[in-house]
Amino acid sequence: MSFQKQLTIAIDGYSSCGKSTLAKAMANELNYTFVDSGAMYRGVALYCLRNGLIVNAIPNVSEIENHLPNIQLDFYYNPETRIQELLLNNENVEQEIRTPEVAAVVSQIATLRSVRVKLVEEQQKIGENGGIVMDGRDIGSVVFPDAEVKLFVTANPDVRAMRRFKELSEKGIITTFEDTKRNLLERDEIDSNRIESPLVQTADAIVLDNSQLTQEEQLQIALFHVQSKSRELAEKQLDC
Ligand code: CDP
Repeated sequence: MSFQKQLTIAIDGYSSCGKSTLAKAMANELNYTFVDSGAMYRGVALYCLRNGLIVNAIPNVSEIENHLPNIQLDFYYNPETRIQELLLNNENVEQEIRTPEVAAVVSQIATLRSVRVKLVEEQQKIGENGGIVMDGRDIGSVVFPDAEVKLFVTANPDVRAMRRFKELSEKGIITTFEDTKRNLLERDEIDSNRIESPLVQTADAIVLDNSQLTQEEQLQIALFHVQSKSRELAEKQLDC
């Protein structure tokens, strides 16, 4: 028995715990659309850096609000890399949004209400017909509170820092393990304690600690939950 409706899958969790890797693999298996909402916040942060809207690490809130209508974000599926790459005003910025410079300011930018309102609206529009796997911090709580499947991904901070450090090193970005770990703990702190849509584990989310799991193992666990939900929905449909 299978449920035909395209589900909405929300994946939230701390920095660098493999949410995007999992979301991408799930979308691939299910033939769903994958959206990395963090890339959109990174895109706004990059725009602000380029346009002098962050001075001494402090965002100029009113100027950022004035600029928001000029910020256009789109995803382009690159068949070669098989990655949804971010376009900022039609320029491919996929590499640039992953740098430590952007990581250093993105969580400040993500605290701003005006930025969140704009991006949440765009994210809801992308996912309005279901068949989507979106990862971020507020996907199950704010963007898609009615998502059929919600996963809250977590992992030990040292494991997360090592994964991110390796990822940056492989891209040729020079940083240290300590700086990488400091950045992700700082972002966790800001993300969890901000006033606007803080990172929270919703009551209906399934917790997935992947500290000791391979990518394949975590994918299989996540797909098991999606199948269980599909079966449950199919049974409900039969009862009606
Ligand atoms: O890849 P990583 O988990 O380190 O971060 P990301 O998903 O690229 O997100 C970058 C930053 O954007 C996060 O640290 C949050 O501050 C912010 N963010 C958010 O506030 N809400 C989201 N839905 C996604 C990201």
